[in-house]
Order: sequence, then structure tokens, then C-alpha cells
Amino acid sequence: MALFRKKPRTEEPIPNHIAIIMDGNGRWAKKRGLPRTAGHKVGAEAFRTIANYAKSIGLHYLTVYAFSTENWKRSTDEVETIMGLLEKYLRELIRDMDKNRVRFCFFGDLSRLSPELQQEARETAERSARYTGVQVNFCLNYGGRDEILRAAKQFAADCASGKARPEELTEAGFSDLLYSAGVPDPDLIIRPSGEIRISNFLLWQSAYSEYYFTDTLWPDFGPRDLDAAIHAYNRRSRRFGGVK
Ligand code: IPE
Ligand code: IPE
Ligand code: MG
Repeated sequence: MALFRKKPRTEEPIPNHIAIIMDGNGRWAKKRGLPRTAGHKVGAEAFRTIANYAKSIGLHYLTVYAFSTENWKRSTDEVETIMGLLEKYLRELIRDMDKNRVRFCFFGDLSRLSPELQQEARETAERSARYTGVQVNFCLNYGGRDEILRAAKQFAADCASGKARPEELTEAGFSDLLYSAGVPDPDLIIRPSGEIRISNFLLWQSAYSEYYFTDTLWPDFGPRDLDAAIHAYNRRSRRFGGVK
């Protein structure tokens, strides 16, 4: 049993929940004269490295945005390559599960994915549920608006069937209808690639999250970049509407 939490190089406290928009794969490839899909391959490796690092520093929750509800707009070739990479990645995760010991959850509407991918995601989540280290929430066909709409429909259905009453709905009760039910809100949201926008990520959960933007493209993002983000986070003053 680990009796201490390994700190990043900066020896600083680790936030409880970090979320990352894994962006910039296409531009990384373009800069090298490679097809966009090459960037997705290296991006998948960057995720593997960051997930392992997150575990080693004792992070409790890591949420990553891998494919949005809007990413279907891309060419069939690109979407198929991303889906193929995800399948390969999940197969490897299942194979190496006892070595990595990372708990996986999936946020998003998985019903639009291939039956194979859905099955792998289910198996990954079920078989990794017993691990107690870092929890990785993998956002796949995820959209913040889609998530809120789905919760609203669920609540309306519960009201119609007499299971719930509109006047009794609370923020906590609504949170429990989201994909992220039971997961604390992210403390820090990181977006690499130089874009300064949220692109439909964790709209409800990010109400009081701290943001960190960097020009580094996701395939180049490594443990030292995560340390830098944590360092910046630890210098913020979070007030949640109060006075400090
Ligand atoms: C992020 O990288 C991966 C996905 C959205 C699937 P991009 O593919 O968006 O890379 P850029 O933003 O075009 O560089
Ligand atoms: C956000 O990146 C989605 C993921 C990283 C999975 P996008 O590349 O899709 O976002 P926009 O189009 O630049 O806003
Ligand atoms: Mg992008």
C-alpha cells in the first residue's frame, strides 16, 4: 500500500480532479507534413503517459475529452481512424489491466459507437471498477449540452412517472443525473493547442473550475506540462463567489 503521495517535481499539492481537452493532434501532424491521423496516434501515446503520471502523483480523478458530439463532422477517413485507434487502445487496456490498475469510466453517448467499441468500453469499465487508484473518465461522443439535455429528459420522465417532483429538484440531484454522477467537479481544466475555448466540455461541472491554457499541442504534452499546470493552479485564489 502506498503510504505517501509522490509529488510532482515542484513538490506541490495535487488538485483532486483535473480535466484535459486533448486538442492539437491535427496541427501537430500538419507541422510535420504528416496526415492528421498520425497526430491522433501520437496523441494516444501522450494520453497513456499522462494517465500513468497522474497515477504516480496520486491524482484522484482525471477526465479526458477524446471525441466530442461535434467531431462526427470530420471526414469519414479521420473518424474511422480515430475509432480504430480507440478500439486498439481499449483492447490493450483490457489486456494490461492488472499491470496498470487504473479505474476507467466512460462519459458520453456510447450508443452511436460500433458494437465492438461499446462492448470494449463496457468491459473496460466493469473489469477496472475494482482498482482504487486514479479514476480516468474517458469522454467519448461526449457533449456538455447533450449531457444536460439527457439529464433533463430523464428528470421529466421521472416526473411523468411520479418518481420525482419538479419542486424538489436540487443542484446535487441534477448532478446525479449527469454522466459524472458521484464524481466531484473538476478543480482544473487544461486545454493545450492554443485555443481559448471550452468546446462543449463539462458545461455544468466547470462552474467554478480553474482554466489553464497552453500553446503546446497535445501530442507534445507531457508530465512536465502537467506539473506546470498544477503549479499555476496552486497560485490561484479560488473564492467560489465569497471573499478571501
Ligand atoms: C484533438 O485534436 C482530437 C480530436 C478532437 C478527436 P484535433 O484533431 O482537434 O487537432 P487540431 O485541433 O485539428 O490540431
Ligand atoms: C475539442 O476539440 C474536442 C476534443 C479534443 C475531443 P475540437 O478540436 O473538436 O474543438 P474545436 O472545433 O477547435 O472547438
Ligand atoms: Mg482541435
